[in-house]
Amino acid sequence: IGGVKIAKDDVVKENDPTNNVPDTIFSKLGVELHRRDNHPIGILKNAIYDYFDTNFPAKFVKFDDLCPIVSIKENFDDVLVPADHISRSYNDTYYVDAQTVLRCHTSAHQAELLRKGHSHFLVTGDVYRRDSIDSTHYPVFHQMEGVRVFSPDDWAGSGMDATSYVAMDLKKSLEGLAKHLFGAVDMRWVDTYFPFTNPSFELEIFFQEKWMEVLGCGVTEQEILRRSGRMDGVAWAFGLGLERLAMVLFDIPDIRLFWSTDQRFTSQFSEGKLGIKFQPFSKYPPCYKDMSFWISDSFTENNLCEVVRGIAGDLVEEVQLIDNFTNKKGMTSHCYRIAYRSMERSLTDEEINQLQGRVREAVQSKLNVVLR
Ligand code: PHE
Repeated sequence: IGGVKIAKDDVVKENDPTNNVPDTIFSKLGVELHRRDNHPIGILKNAIYDYFDTNFPAKFVKFDDLCPIVSIKENFDDVLVPADHISRSYNDTYYVDAQTVLRCHTSAHQAELLRKGHSHFLVTGDVYRRDSIDSTHYPVFHQMEGVRVFSPDDWAGSGMDATSYVAMDLKKSLEGLAKHLFGAVDMRWVDTYFPFTNPSFELEIFFQEKWMEVLGCGVTEQEILRRSGRMDGVAWAFGLGLERLAMVLFDIPDIRLFWSTDQRFTSQFSEGKLGIKFQPFSKYPPCYKDMSFWISDSFTENNLCEVVRGIAGDLVEEVQLIDNFTNKKGMTSHCYRIAYRSMERSLTDEEINQLQGRVREAVQSKLNVVLR
């Protein structure tokens, strides 16, 4: 794709009911924040590249322009995601059509690159997930995937079995990365589950008085290597979210800022300068609007958030369920509080009232709910 914008009409058939990608999301394809050397996401990518270039004997091959439109086979089947896993649902993933999705993780490229014979690689790219709205969630974000394949010679002399050896190397490598990015930090490993790794871990770092999850990783399921024709190998893999790390490293308070084209944001960052602290140029007040409605069985919060985002765009900061009850007739009512705030200017009452009016209309007409 390489900076080329993809037109929705070229990939989506008109009125295809199997497509759930709105225009607002399509417009993000090809923006590629991770390929801008003066943007926090690109600066962080390059800092991670530096770590892998200087601390490993073999060179990691880097990919940052693989197309985010992938088959369900690549996104799910090839990495052993079970047929009934919730991540496959239309509520969680953007489907271009029944067989094609916007990748929900960079793991979508693992199998193909293994099949091509790569043994050390990093894949950076934009990933897409339907989700709720708050200051740390945005439907498009960036991940970096890393994979390293070992051969029997590597673990032979260690006195360890292959899996333990590879798991040890994985933890050591990622602890080194965390130190490279954050300096001395407290970190801990948490056991978890991914369909494509076993054992699987999450790394958490202690930041601003809280444990924060920064990456998922593990020893690659042998089945993935076997299917890629790499029977003798044992591998590790990790996937890290770049926004999460960049928010911490650059003190960026809201994930929407990454998309800002306001000079007061973009001019604060420059190539090679990791960890410059962002100076907020505005603290415009948020404005809250509540909305109550009777839901139907098909209602989901992700669908609501998409409708709100479709109308209010990046002016919506948070959508939060504040009340939920079921009456004697079995009807369920939800009340959501929407926080509107611009990162760039103050919004007028009139503007917000108009927005909220349009949001109410859209929610009513698209979501099969009854406003109260
Ligand atoms: N793909 C996982 C995610 O998006 C992260 C991951 C990558 C975990 C590789 C293990 C190995 O959450």
